[in-house]
Amino acid sequence: MAKNTLLITGASRGIGLATAKRFQRAGYGVVNLSRSQPDLPGVEHIALDIADAEAIQAAAKPIANALSQVGNSAGSVVLVHNAGLLQKDSVRDLPASELQRVLQTNVIAPAQINQLALPFMQPGSSIIYVGSTLSEKGVANTCSYVTSKHAVLGLMRASCQDLAGSGIHTACVCPGFTHTEMLSNHVGNDQRVLDDIATGIAYGRLIEPEEIAEAIFFSATNPVLNGAVLHANLGQIES
Ligand SMILES: NC(=O)c1ccc[n+]([C@@H]2O[C@H](COP(=O)([O-])OP(=O)(O)OC[C@H]3O[C@@H](n4cnc5c(N)ncnc54)[C@H](OP(=O)(O)O)[C@@H]3O)[C@@H](O)[C@H]2O)c1
Repeated sequence: MAKNTLLITGASRGIGLATAKRFQRAGYGVVNLSRSQPDLPGVEHIALDIADAEAIQAAAKPIANALSQVGNSAGSVVLVHNAGLLQKDSVRDLPASELQRVLQTNVIAPAQINQLALPFMQPGSSIIYVGSTLSEKGVANTCSYVTSKHAVLGLMRASCQDLAGSGIHTACVCPGFTHTEMLSNHVGNDQRVLDDIATGIAYGRLIEPEEIAEAIFFSATNPVLNGAVLHANLGQIES
């Protein structure tokens, strides 16, 4: 029987964990790449720090082992580039080493993992990038993140062009303010700030990770969205 597989980065928590659960519900096998192990039975975990380019190359074999079983069963692979790094910094004094670390994690790692996974991806497979509202908009004091998330969008568009004719489609899902550790940590775990953010959203609340997981699942399984940018933000109120 064909075995469909989700290969995902960052399923140890947040949007990635919700996405792994969503695909499991649809019968997919799940292979996760992150530093810590997801608390989710049935996931094949390959411990990996994607901020380390050499470590990614060294993970080529376990990734190939996990994906070769899919190829043998004529199943499809959904590759979701979800892991991300958000930090506070400014164009005024962002050290080159910090920009490199964020670009490696958010942009270069997905490009490296694409090259490891593509040989095992049959027609019907897909690559879904997780961008951000900040893939198409700038805000102050998140220079490396804004820069990297714009580049994620470029990588998705380049993927669409380079993979034309392969039967593999790609899209970029751009979450708005989602209720995860990343957002909480970014605002110093201050509930008042989170409540204030929610007032700027048309539904008056933060997005739940499961809602983004649903958008990722929909994008991954509908090739008509090839090359699409999907803003999943509940409607941000423009000031
Ligand atoms: N939350 C939001 O409001 C929001 C808004 C827009 C876009 N996004 C995007 O959505 C994606 C998921 O974010 P989230 O909110 O779910 O974040 P999160 O709760 O902080 O989870 C981040 C995930 O990425 C993994 N990760 C981070 N650095 C890694 C590294 N160096 N190597 C391997 N894995 C790494 C983490 O795993 P380990 O720590 O176990 O390695 C974790 O599983 C990110 O791309 C983020 O930019 C989030």
